[in-house]
Amino acid sequence: MPQNDTAARSLEHWSEDGRRGMDAFYALAHLDYRLLAKALDHPRLFREVRERAGNPESLSLLDVACGSGKFPAALLRDTAVPALADEGLRVDYALLDPSAFSIAEAAAELRPPFHEAQRLETTLEDLDPSVGPFDVVWATHALYALEPAHLQAAARRLVAATAPHGVALIAQGTADGHYLAFYRAFLEGVRGGEGTPYVSCEELVEAIGIAVKDGPHEIVVRRLSYDHVVAQDDRDVVEGFLQRCAFDDSVSLEQMLDAPVLGDYLAGCRDDAAGVWRFHQEVDLVLLTPGETR
Ligand SMILES: C[S@@+](CC[C@H](N)C(=O)[O-])C[C@H]1O[C@@H](n2cnc3c(N)ncnc32)[C@H](O)[C@@H]1O
Repeated sequence: MPQNDTAARSLEHWSEDGRRGMDAFYALAHLDYRLLAKALDHPRLFREVRERAGNPESLSLLDVACGSGKFPAALLRDTAVPALADEGLRVDYALLDPSAFSIAEAAAELRPPFHEAQRLETTLEDLDPSVGPFDVVWATHALYALEPAHLQAAARRLVAATAPHGVALIAQGTADGHYLAFYRAFLEGVRGGEGTPYVSCEELVEAIGIAVKDGPHEIVVRRLSYDHVVAQDDRDVVEGFLQRCAFDDSVSLEQMLDAPVLGDYLAGCRDDAAGVWRFHQEVDLVLLTPGETR
């Protein structure tokens, strides 16, 4: 189980007590998943894996750090993934998360072709080596709170969980994107420099690069750049979003604005002419695919 400050606070917030903060966060952050759902031809990705697997009736899928299931929900709502069920495909969906609350929330989102298959209440790095491999693995905005000392083990486990003919999809904010930049400024300006920053996608890709070495998979990275935009009048929405970005609801928006470093960062997010906040996201979409298919 997570031991460090950031990991422990993350786990504490992925709970029934954290539901209000989670809902406040997703008032804006649902956009992360809508854009990911639209960024790739997901039905085609499933069809290609199915073909490589020899056209079975079902594929296995591991959702790493399933959270509250916003990614499968977006795929089911905003893409043609549901039509895969009409083609006779069933996706046996394994939910992995150290939070039982998250697993239950994500399970409630699943609709055909996704069928709940397994609940794995564990961190990725501690996932039993005998579990898997899976035809499809995804980890979307999943691994920010990983303990740095566990990064390489987590990357190895993710790669090992991906079948040789399978694919893995990882999406995570980069070092310059809002989630990482905000949290660095929060730790610096509010916590006196104490605390473990989030893991960036660059760090994750480096660790995955080591883990895929000599294996069948290649890494393809694509950058998504966009803004979370919210009216400056919507104070409570902004505060809820930012508090969840730091897993800390004890610091008010006004305290954040007054804090050194963080205040400067937030000033740079204001578009006063338009009367909005713009939180700029840089997110990398990382695909592991069998090399010979590209
Ligand atoms: C932002 S959510 C992920 C969102 C999710 N992918 C979705 O589609 O809604 C982050 C999740 O990561 C989980 N988590 C934190 N540390 C983890 C670790 N080391 N391994 C796996 N999951 C972890 C948290 O419990 C939380 O549920």
